[in-house]
Amino acid sequence: MIIQPDLRGRHLLTLNDLSDREFLQLINLAQRLKEKKKEQPRGSEQLLRGKNIALVFEKASTRTRCAATAAAFDEGGHVEYLGKEDIHLGKKESVPDTARVLGRMFDGILFRGFAHATVSALADYAGVPVWNGLTDDAHPTQILADLLTVKQTFESLEGLTVVYVGDGRNNVCNSLMLGCAKAGVNFVNCCPPQLAPAKKHVKQVMQIAEKNRGTITVSQNVDDAVRGANVVYTDVWVSMGEEAVMDERIRLLKPYQVNMSMMQRTGNLESDRVIFLHCLPAFHNHDTVYTSECGALEVTDDVFEAPFSKVFDQAENRLHTIKAMMVATLGES
Ligand code: CP
Ligand code: NVA
Repeated sequence: MIIQPDLRGRHLLTLNDLSDREFLQLINLAQRLKEKKKEQPRGSEQLLRGKNIALVFEKASTRTRCAATAAAFDEGGHVEYLGKEDIHLGKKESVPDTARVLGRMFDGILFRGFAHATVSALADYAGVPVWNGLTDDAHPTQILADLLTVKQTFESLEGLTVVYVGDGRNNVCNSLMLGCAKAGVNFVNCCPPQLAPAKKHVKQVMQIAEKNRGTITVSQNVDDAVRGANVVYTDVWVSMGEEAVMDERIRLLKPYQVNMSMMQRTGNLESDRVIFLHCLPAFHNHDTVYTSECGALEVTDDVFEAPFSKVFDQAENRLHTIKAMMVATLGES
C-alpha cells in the first residue's frame, strides 16, 4: 500500500501540525485502511510491524485507548498502556525526563491528559512522534474521525455546513472549528457568550476557512445557527476536569440541548440532508452519574437513537483514523 501523506517522524499535537492537504489526505488514508481491514485478512500487509507504541493517559478513555490498541494490533504493532498511577510522570519524574526514556524504548507516544503544555513537552524531548489523544485545549484525532464520517455519509465534504451546539470553547469544539476550516466546510459555533471560543483562535481559523472558501460563524441564536445544518454536533457540557461547574453549565446550556425540535429547525430532516454527531461519551437519558436525577443533558434519547444519528459510525472511525495517523507517521510502505 502506498502511504500518503508521508508524515514520517512528525508529531500531531493540534491540526495546525498538518497542512490542509495533508489533513484531507489523512482522512483518505483512513478510508483506504478501513477498506483494507474489511477486504484483506489480518496480517497480510502489516504496516506497523515491529513498532512499539506507548499510550500515556492521565484521563479516562474508552474510544481513544481502544482505537489506538486495535489500530496498532491490526497492523502488527504493540502497545503499552501507561495510566496515571502506573508511571512516575509529573510526580517523581519530570515530563522531559519521562519523554527521553519513553523515546528510547518506543517508536511513538499517544498522550491524553490535562495541560496542553505536557504533550508539547513530550514532543520536544521524546525524539519520536507524539500524538495528542486529547488535552484540555484540543482533540485533533477526534476530528479526523468526524470528517471521515461526514464524508462517508454525504460522499463529499463540499458545500456542507457543520453546526456545533454547546460548550463553544472546549477541546473538541476548538479542533472541530479548525478541521472544518482546513477542509473548506462551513462551520457555525452556537454557544452562550460565557462559553464562546477565544477570539484569537476564531481569527486564525477564519483566515484558514477563507483560503478554502469556507465560512466560520459564532452565534448565540439557536434558530439562526441550525437553519440549513447538514451536521448537528454536540459534546458534553462539562469536560473531564471541570466536574465542579456542572450546575452552572446545566443552567447555561439547557437552551442549547440537541432535541427533535432543534433537528426539525435545520429544515433538512425531511430530505435526509442532516445527521447528528457526538464525540461520545454522551449524556442522553441513560443511567449515568449526571443524568440519573435530571434526565438528558446535551442530547435527548430520541435524537441519539434516531436513524440520522451516526455516532457509532463516528466512534468506529476513531479506529481507522488513529491507524492512519500511526501509519503515516511511523509506517513503511
Ligand atoms: N471521543 C473520545 O475521545 O472518547 P474517549 O474519551 O472514550 O476516548
Ligand atoms: N470535551 C470532552 C471530550 C471527551 C471525548 C472532554 O474533554 O471530556
